[in-house]
Amino acid sequence: MARRRLPAPVFDYLDGGADDEKSLDRNTSAFDSYELLPAQLNDVSSIDLSTQLLGARQSIPILLSPTGMSRLFHRDKEFAVARAASTFNVAYTLSTMSTTAIEVISAETSGPKMFQVYVFKDRELTREFVERCKAAGYDALCLTVDTPVFGNRERDLVSGMTIPPRIGLRQIGHYLSRPTWTRDAVSQHDFQLANITHRAELGGSGTFKLIEFLNQQFDRAVTWKDVEWLRGIWDGPLVIKGILSSADAQQAVNAGASAIMISNHGGRQLDAAAAPISCVCEIRSQVGDDIELIVDGGIRRGTHVLKALALGANACSIGRPYLYGLAAGGQAGVERTLGLLRDELLRGAALLGCRNVREITTDRVRTISTP
Ligand code: GLV
Repeated sequence: MARRRLPAPVFDYLDGGADDEKSLDRNTSAFDSYELLPAQLNDVSSIDLSTQLLGARQSIPILLSPTGMSRLFHRDKEFAVARAASTFNVAYTLSTMSTTAIEVISAETSGPKMFQVYVFKDRELTREFVERCKAAGYDALCLTVDTPVFGNRERDLVSGMTIPPRIGLRQIGHYLSRPTWTRDAVSQHDFQLANITHRAELGGSGTFKLIEFLNQQFDRAVTWKDVEWLRGIWDGPLVIKGILSSADAQQAVNAGASAIMISNHGGRQLDAAAAPISCVCEIRSQVGDDIELIVDGGIRRGTHVLKALALGANACSIGRPYLYGLAAGGQAGVERTLGLLRDELLRGAALLGCRNVREITTDRVRTISTP
C-alpha cells in the first residue's frame, strides 16, 4: 500500500539502501541461516512477552527505531507513529531529523520515549538536545555512531529525490500520479526539521538551508571520548546505535552504555556491512548479560524476533515496517504493522513452546549448516 500511496521518489527513499543494497537485502535474508527448535507440550495456555527495556516495562520486545522526516510519508507524521507506539506500549525513538519537535511529541504521547542524537561538530547543539530531552521527560537517549558521512543512496540519485522533495520537471509525472500525497504536500508544506528551526539564523532560512547546516554538522572526528562526554551529561539510559563488531560493543560497555543497538542503519550506510542478526551471538558472548542488546535491521516477521531473542538479544527494533504502515494509513497503518508483528510473535512463541521472553533461550535456535 505504501508503494501505491507515495510518489516513486519518496517510496524509494524509504525503501532503498546504499550502493548495491547488499546489506539491505541480507538484513532480512540472514534470518534464514537460523532455524527454530520448538519445545513441545509445555502448557502455552498463557503467553506474556512483556519485557523490561531501558528502564521501562514494554508489552512486547519491539521498539520503533529513529527515522527522519516522517512528514514525507504521511501528513500526521511523527504524531501518528508515537501515538501508535503508546497504544501498544512500545518505545518510540524520535529522530534528530524529525519533522515534529522534541517537546511536542512528549506533550502528545504517554508511552516510553527515546531521542536519537548525533555528536555534532557543534557539541553545544548536541548538549542543547540533551537538555531539551531532560526537560521534556524523555526516558532514554540513543546515539547514532554509523554516520561519519552519508551512505551512497543511488535510488535517490537516479530519481532526483531531495530532502525535502523538490518537485522538478524530471519528477513531475511521479507526483501527478499520486494526487492525494501531492495535494497534501502543496497545501500543508511543513517539511521542517522541527528540532532545529530555531537555528535558522545560523543556516539561513528555509529547510534546504537547514539541511545543509545539519550536513555540515556531521563530524568525522568523533571518537569514544565523545561518547564518554555524552555519558557525562546524560544520566538516564544511553543506547549506542550502529555497532556490529564485538570490539566496538566492548567499547560501548566501557563508555557506560546501557544498551547496544546492533545495526547497519537499515543497509543505508556502509553497503556489505554485516547483517545485525549474524552479530548477536558474538557480541553477547563478548559483553555478557549485563547490557541490553537490540537488533535493528531486516525484521519483518514475528519469527525474526524469536530468532533474535533466542540468539541472545533482548529486543528488536523496526524502521521501514512502521514507515510502510505510516504511508499506507497514518496512525492506523502503524498500528496495523505493530498488530501484525505482535500477533505473529505471540503465535510464534506458543508454537515454539515459550511462555515468556526468559524461555526463549539458545536451546530454541540453531544455525543451518547446509543451505
Ligand atoms: C537517515 O538516517 C537515513 O538513513 O535516511
